Amino acid sequence: MLPSKETAEKELEIAGRLNPGPWTEHSINVGLAAKYIAEKCPNMDADKAYILGVLHDIGRRAGIVTIPKHVYEGYLYSTEKGWNEVARISMTHSYPIKEYDFTEEVKDEEAFIKDYIVNCTYDDYDRLLQLCDSLALANGFCMLEKRFIDVARRYGLWPTSVSRWNATFEIKEYFEKQMGCSIYDVLPNVKETTFADVPLWKPPTK
Ligand SMILES: [Fe+2]
Repeated sequence: MLPSKETAEKELEIAGRLNPGPWTEHSINVGLAAKYIAEKCPNMDADKAYILGVLHDIGRRAGIVTIPKHVYEGYLYSTEKGWNEVARISMTHSYPIKEYDFTEEVKDEEAFIKDYIVNCTYDDYDRLLQLCDSLALANGFCMLEKRFIDVARRYGLWPTSVSRWNATFEIKEYFEKQMGCSIYDVLPNVKETTFADVPLWKPPTK
């Protein structure tokens, strides 16, 4: 089951009150990017893509959380609501390279996530949301390269960073083949946002 567009937007608004931050605007922009790209793909539902984008980070409602924590919280919350497609996207959007995104020794919620991801066959919505998460800043859409550096400046680099970037570029090409144009052709003001010099935002520490 998938919530309506109105319910998804309302949920994000409530979550933003529980944990204020630019992540809510980022989420709306992920939803819009997913919608604009899906509209150009013959076999995708643009409304579904938008709803999944708006709610992909819903686990952040639980406060300042790490990658596995926000993924897991989002999965639990959406499952409880009966939104199984949102629960799935909460999990898959952060792991474009699947098992290579995890170390050997994972524990607690990360062990659960790893098991889920390894056994999940990604579909076009999983791929689309992985891509759109890297295309959307709080203030608009930007070139993948800019978002990668934005994240690296805030959180640092991981041993898997380059593999993750390469996987995301592959997804970009995968959708561009379906669209028959560049993803940047359908993202309003992407040029302006990419070259805008915005102050660096850092998450507050507890
Ligand atoms: Fe995100």
